[in-house]
Amino acid sequence: MSLPDNEKILRIKHSLEKRVVTLPDGTFLPSIGQGTWYMGENPESRNKEIKALQLGIELGMKLIDTAEMYGNGDSERLVGEAIKGRRDKVFLVSKVYPHHSGLDLIESACENSLKRLGTDHLDLYLLHWRGRVPLAETIEGMERLRKDGKIVRWGVSNFDTDDMLELWDTANGKNCVTNQVLYHLGSRGIDYDLLPWHHEHNMPIMAYSPLAQGGSLRRQLLSDPTIIEIAERYNVQPLQIALAWTIRSNNVIAIPKAVKEEHVLANAQAATIQLTIEDLNRLDEVFPKPTRKIPLDII
Ligand SMILES: NC(=O)c1ccc[n+]([C@@H]2O[C@H](COP(=O)([O-])OP(=O)(O)OC[C@H]3O[C@@H](n4cnc5c(N)ncnc54)[C@H](OP(=O)(O)O)[C@@H]3O)[C@@H](O)[C@H]2O)c1
Repeated sequence: MSLPDNEKILRIKHSLEKRVVTLPDGTFLPSIGQGTWYMGENPESRNKEIKALQLGIELGMKLIDTAEMYGNGDSERLVGEAIKGRRDKVFLVSKVYPHHSGLDLIESACENSLKRLGTDHLDLYLLHWRGRVPLAETIEGMERLRKDGKIVRWGVSNFDTDDMLELWDTANGKNCVTNQVLYHLGSRGIDYDLLPWHHEHNMPIMAYSPLAQGGSLRRQLLSDPTIIEIAERYNVQPLQIALAWTIRSNNVIAIPKAVKEEHVLANAQAATIQLTIEDLNRLDEVFPKPTRKIPLDII
């Protein structure tokens, strides 16, 4: 993909501003953000990674997702460097390890993340996945962090429908604002009951690995004739169609990770692609919606 001219960049920014998802507290977020898994681990690619995140912010992909787990804090350190002087333009998300999510450790885990990120608050803090700590305890820890102003809101990750039902029945569980789960055109198990549950409860999903890790989790996304034909019609790449597909409703925020400049631009540009009902029906034929419960796909 050639670098777009200024007019195209303005169009991309405008599309990202308009294609928003609303959190339960009324906050609007562009439906495409940026992932950071594996960033910060290789000193040779550090500058490129920082520039990629900064370009993404300039284009309007303001949500940046990281975790204390990624590179043992190296991803958070890199994000901290990338957002220096730009904190107000970013919606910062980090995640706590399940074994740090009890009342004894969650505050220090959060403070360590804040230090690495060079900020005094997270916009969103997620429980990375469910571990042994009772949900009620993690929720209480999250609520304390919220009251102390260290996080603005909290959510969960890798929660299947039964986990969400349990969360909903736990005190203050309804303060959860999102659930970050694996979702791409080649892995759409959540379309059966988890995504409908989220729709009903007005809580967006955050889709991780929305590009199936550049197609490596599902090669067919790169080679399928239907995707290729649709991509050619929009004059874009097949993975941009896959990304546009994940954000087809206004209830999913996708967080692709990209280091290559052309990938950052391509991902932002996916917000300009409005797939038609006919496109969606054709994609459904090749990548059918599940007709029965499939346990949540996790990587
Ligand atoms: N909560 C969880 O348990 C969980 C699990 C997994 C991921 N995540 C989050 O979700 C983010 C995204 O998922 P992911 O990193 O697993 O995979 P992904 O975003 O689906 O794919 C990333 C890969 O795709 C390539 N790529 C990016 N844009 C592209 C484009 N337009 N065309 C072709 N290739 C492209 C990237 O290459 P380059 O980098 O070379 O540009 C990279 O190799 C993570 O970074 C992380 O923040 C969360």
